[in-house]
Amino acid sequence: MSQKSLNQIRETFLKYFEKNDHKIVESSNLVPNNDPTLMFANSGMVQFKNVFTGLEKRDYQRATTSQKCVRAGGKHNDLENVGYTPRHHTFFEMLGNFSFGDYFKEKAIHYAWDLITKDFGLDKNKIYVTVFHEDDEAFNFWKKIAGFNDDRIIRISTSDNFWSMGETGPCGPCSEIFYDHGDHLKGGLPGSKEEDGDRFIEIWNLVFMQYEQVSKDKRIDLPKPSVDTGMGLERISALLQGTHDNYETDHFKKLIQSTSNIVKKKPNQSNLSSFRVIADHLRASSFLIAEGVLPSNEGRGYVLRRIMRRGMRHSHLLGSKEPVFYNLFETLKNEMSGSYPELKRAESLIKETLKMEEEKFLVLLERGIKILNEEISKIDKVLPGDIAFKLYDTYGFPLDLTEDILRNKSLSIDTKKFQSLMKESRELAKKKLEGVWRCCS
Ligand code: GLY
Repeated sequence: MSQKSLNQIRETFLKYFEKNDHKIVESSNLVPNNDPTLMFANSGMVQFKNVFTGLEKRDYQRATTSQKCVRAGGKHNDLENVGYTPRHHTFFEMLGNFSFGDYFKEKAIHYAWDLITKDFGLDKNKIYVTVFHEDDEAFNFWKKIAGFNDDRIIRISTSDNFWSMGETGPCGPCSEIFYDHGDHLKGGLPGSKEEDGDRFIEIWNLVFMQYEQVSKDKRIDLPKPSVDTGMGLERISALLQGTHDNYETDHFKKLIQSTSNIVKKKPNQSNLSSFRVIADHLRASSFLIAEGVLPSNEGRGYVLRRIMRRGMRHSHLLGSKEPVFYNLFETLKNEMSGSYPELKRAESLIKETLKMEEEKFLVLLERGIKILNEEISKIDKVLPGDIAFKLYDTYGFPLDLTEDILRNKSLSIDTKKFQSLMKESRELAKKKLEGVWRCCS
């Protein structure tokens, strides 16, 4: 069987569930509609929150989606790890199937097993699953459906196997599916001390939605037991393409090759993280701009600016003196606009915004880095907070950008001082604004 591309894998997942009476529903926006509890959609169930709780009715009881997600702010924030690990992203797609009071545990496990072992053709002997420690039902369904011995089903008592969308909202026990990438990699089974290695990787989370957390201390039953699942498309694509590294999939290879052509440098061990950061941050930035989020100094716009500037610093590290992101967009558009036509619709806004921000920032970056290098030569371990603040205030360096620069030099920042200067500066700005109001009203 020839290897499937990331685009084909998305298609296989959605078609599998369509064949099993699920409606293919479009991804919702990254910026959630009417949900002030959330900065960006961070999982597939976000658009169905009110359907689970019974507040909203749809004309289907089963759905499947590939949901755009951003984890770069709020409860889930992966920004600082991107580029340095094989599986962290600020933007990713989450594949999911959903039952709104229709099927529950048995069918959810049946579909998952059927899809991964038949359509995806995974080796059954490399699969392990976890269940919430009290969930005998799920344990027994796994035995029956997959024919697993008890040692392949691991009971976990921690919150790892109880999923919730946030402080409040639908929640329930979950069962996670893991794949053993082989003993050439470090890592242990889920629940063990070494579980964070690269060997046993979680590929799918089946959430048995039963409850709604209405406040910190109060949890009620949902109108009907339901199902919400989440499978990272980049991760399953890596696995089906024979790697544990998402950045080695066909999709990321194209983005990295395109960057390499533009900056006229080949990826190697020492610069690989820059290529990865650029590929990831191009995706997050383009999708956010497509929804009308623009770089600014507050809220969602500031998250976007942090992502863009971090990415642009890495293109500068690769030796680029000219903006590169807007040129890279073409490759992303070719790769993803089939599934996400908003990339085509917003093409000129995306390119223009990327170009302007990069042009503006390249000037500041050169000067800021010069100052930072001078300061670094004077310190032992910790960069004073007032220098980090000056870089922020005068040269537009978000704190995580300065942290990213210091990362490889084993230096840190006096963030306490930085935060107190930030507070002072906000209070001053507020006072000035009040002064303007007083004199003009
Ligand atoms: N909502 C399921 C997950 O994000 O894993």
